[in-house]
Amino acid sequence: MLSTLLLAWYDAHKRVLPFRGTKDPYRIWVSEIMLQQTRTETVGAYYERFLSLFPDVFALANAQEQEVLKAWEGLGYYSRARNLHKAAKVVAEEYGGVFPADLEALRGLPGVGDYTAAAVASIAFDLPAPAMDGNLTRVFSRVCGVREDVGAPSVKRQLLLLAKEHMPARRCGDFNQALMDLGATVCIPGTPDCERCPLRSLCNAYAEGDAEELPRKAAAKPPKELQVGVIIITCGAKVLLMERKEALLKGMWVFPLAEEGSTLSHVDKRLNTLQIKARFAGKIGEARHVFTHRIWQMTVYHYVADACQAKEGRWASLHEMNALPLPTAIRAAKEWAVELLTPEIRPILPEWMEKVSRAYSESWRSSHAHHCSPAFVEEHTPLHMEMILRGHLDTGKDVYAIFCAREAAGVLVLDQGENELVSLYLHPNYQNAGVGKAAVRFAVENLKKERNMRVTVLEDNQKAQHIYQSAGFTKMQERRILNKERNVVEMDLIREGEME
Ligand code: ADE
Repeated sequence: MLSTLLLAWYDAHKRVLPFRGTKDPYRIWVSEIMLQQTRTETVGAYYERFLSLFPDVFALANAQEQEVLKAWEGLGYYSRARNLHKAAKVVAEEYGGVFPADLEALRGLPGVGDYTAAAVASIAFDLPAPAMDGNLTRVFSRVCGVREDVGAPSVKRQLLLLAKEHMPARRCGDFNQALMDLGATVCIPGTPDCERCPLRSLCNAYAEGDAEELPRKAAAKPPKELQVGVIIITCGAKVLLMERKEALLKGMWVFPLAEEGSTLSHVDKRLNTLQIKARFAGKIGEARHVFTHRIWQMTVYHYVADACQAKEGRWASLHEMNALPLPTAIRAAKEWAVELLTPEIRPILPEWMEKVSRAYSESWRSSHAHHCSPAFVEEHTPLHMEMILRGHLDTGKDVYAIFCAREAAGVLVLDQGENELVSLYLHPNYQNAGVGKAAVRFAVENLKKERNMRVTVLEDNQKAQHIYQSAGFTKMQERRILNKERNVVEMDLIREGEME
């Protein structure tokens, strides 16, 4: 009998898979949804992580959809994750958290089709339902000699009936999983390994010698190729991201896309629709992603905006971007965005002096505007800042330019002799995005750790103080400067020398 031969083979040869060995319908359901369009090897790590984030159906039901999508990031077919979340809410609210041991009730859950309902029903509850996936279709078409197009509804019905006839009275879940394993390791597409097959003696296709030609399928329509412009718009150290509303990748976050076409005029049109004022900063590269019915041939561009404004979307720092769910389709573009937003700190070159001084001037003026006389603030022009930087260079200090998104973001000055962080100024667009933190880390690495390090900050600059404190600086003393130009309280912070 087919099931006897098959189950004996399964007991000896079943694959060790991370989602096996449980009867918990929640876990089985999660694994079966993941396995629908994803290979078993890929699923393993995602499965473990997903269950550690959402250990039971209530944890999943109570999560935010964006958290679920983030956990699904990289697996593709994101509607699976959104449906999983919806179905968890149904099980939690309508079934009191208990999965129904009933094929029809399971089939009624969002995202649960015939295959998944049968897989969960058989593996968790031992119900006699064949889980007709590609593996079972292939095995039964060969063993039973079904030579018609397996995509036709009547042939599907015929295969399901055949599978039901062979279903044993017990071990229904093992029977389905044995067929899956046989299909994945022995009765594989193309050239099956019939010599190792436990069902060879029963197999019609083996007897007829046409196993390699089965199952028969009508040729699939090739996916349609679309040209898509991917627009990485940076504003200081932030990048614009938008949540997809379209069915494809719904709920995932992407850079603004020109889906009508990928030329610069398509991209400019899209920027106009989004009411974004940004200047072209370069073409970054090309990328391609193949979906089931579509191919995106992408051209990735970089644009720079001076004001973080847009009709829709969200300006995200590197850290914020990494916390949002982004689809694999735009992975190459994301990596380019990460590269753009990662600050670079370099010893200043003469040709950078002007740009850096402009950022320095903006930064100084914005931080000193409240406590200095207007005339004194006015004095701090880019040219004036350039003189200050030249002075630092002339007195042997190290002056570094800070770049981010291919623009001058600010300046860092270190005094090795005094072991002091003399100045750190970032243009306002580059603040609150991790650039200051990176610069302080760089300063600590480049000064002498075994000696005390010093830095002076304005008392009202809480953000800067927080960054220094995180890097190990503590408050030492305050100084009030009061004259006709300035009325400020400055604070000295010290990072104590570390023992060697
Ligand atoms: N593919 C989908 N579900 C599976 C399972 N339970 N075992 C092996 N392969 C599978």
